[in-house]
Amino acid sequence: MEDLKNLSAEAVMAPFVGRDTLTNRELFQQLALQLDIPEAALDARAPVGKAGKAYNLFERKVRWHQQTLKHLGVLERVERGTWRLSGDAKKELTPAPRRAVLLAFSTDLGCALWANAEDVFSGLGEQITLAFTSPPYPLAKQRAYGNTDQASYIDWLLPILEPIVAHLRPGGSVVLNLGNDIFEPGSPARSLYLERLTLALHDRLGLHLMERFVWHNPTKPPGPVQWASIRRVHHNTAYEHVLWFTNDPALVVADNRRCLREHTDKHRRFMEAGGVQQYARYAGGAYTVREGSFSAPTEGAIARNVLSIPHRDPDQQPARDYAAAHGLPAHPALMPSRLAEHFVRFLSDMGDLIVDPFGGWATTGRGAELHGRRWLVTERCREYLMAAAQRFRGAPGFHAAFAANGGANGCY
Ligand SMILES: C[S@@+](CC[C@H](N)C(=O)[O-])C[C@H]1O[C@@H](n2cnc3c(N)ncnc32)[C@H](O)[C@@H]1O
Repeated sequence: MEDLKNLSAEAVMAPFVGRDTLTNRELFQQLALQLDIPEAALDARAPVGKAGKAYNLFERKVRWHQQTLKHLGVLERVERGTWRLSGDAKKELTPAPRRAVLLAFSTDLGCALWANAEDVFSGLGEQITLAFTSPPYPLAKQRAYGNTDQASYIDWLLPILEPIVAHLRPGGSVVLNLGNDIFEPGSPARSLYLERLTLALHDRLGLHLMERFVWHNPTKPPGPVQWASIRRVHHNTAYEHVLWFTNDPALVVADNRRCLREHTDKHRRFMEAGGVQQYARYAGGAYTVREGSFSAPTEGAIARNVLSIPHRDPDQQPARDYAAAHGLPAHPALMPSRLAEHFVRFLSDMGDLIVDPFGGWATTGRGAELHGRRWLVTERCREYLMAAAQRFRGAPGFHAAFAANGGANGCY
């Protein structure tokens, strides 16, 4: 029935967030309000099944979704006609049940799914140009959202990346932001997991390493505390790695003209003054410059492979405000939008599909949205998606399925 087309499992789940319990009557009322269902559709009855007994179609559809959500472990029945989020779903972070894939929010260009990445990408119906992601690092101290240890890291990550790599177009890229501050247990020696991962991506998934970018974060808090501040055997670190791989270096979809840096005033003056004034040789003749070199005006400077971007990012503010106002956990490991935007521009064109299996507050989706690329992110913790949705309000076609949908219970 046309009037009930928005009555999805996500919509049925939404009114329970922030409530202890909800009677079916309250649920029906909230859904009617939230989805703007006309009164006639609320009361419509029609014969169902062989017996031809007349049922209320709206209530029947809600109950059907309730049963699906119960089966997924999201809802549980308290007593006849009263339901609540299940034990697991009430924890601070609610992981998506395995094999459940629910839409959290979408825009005309992309969508965020509450799902385990493992359950999404093998079924994708099109080619990916860029996977840009920051997987949970193999930290010794677990994050609230969970992470795998060094020993099992590759065996955990590769099966998630494998279907993404299988859907890469020729010359498509996989870009991984990964921490460098991982140590051998109890030792100041750095882990070699990045080297092992690089080899595994090459040997097992057929990817080629294009670049080890350094993301210099000038506002990174001091650390590693144990080895720099307490034992004093290390410097404070100020960078993380961003490893860039492609399935076909000869066809790689990359263009550094899409992410040029503004010329400095000094360089502009240098170009205007005619560039190099006299022939010179450097490094024993390995490098020479002729008179007039660098005088042709160019649109900007080619970016260097050290990207200096502070991690504090005003673009995250709407999500931060929303999380604080609604008692949701702030995401503890975000990347700045500018980092995502840089790779979105560099490694894809308008309209290309960009994915992030470890979505967090959907920073990759945000970078893609801002630059006219299509996007798909998966995130397993529901609360992160509720806050992430705030970053997309105002984007053309914004639709919140279970996140931030303006429902009447005061939580969204
Ligand atoms: C380092 S954070 C990514 C943050 C993200 N780059 C951002 O700036 O918004 C990693 C995220 O992956 C999520 N995650 C972990 N395992 C997952 C899985 N199997 N499927 C989907 N998301 C997962 C975690 O909940 C966490 O939010």
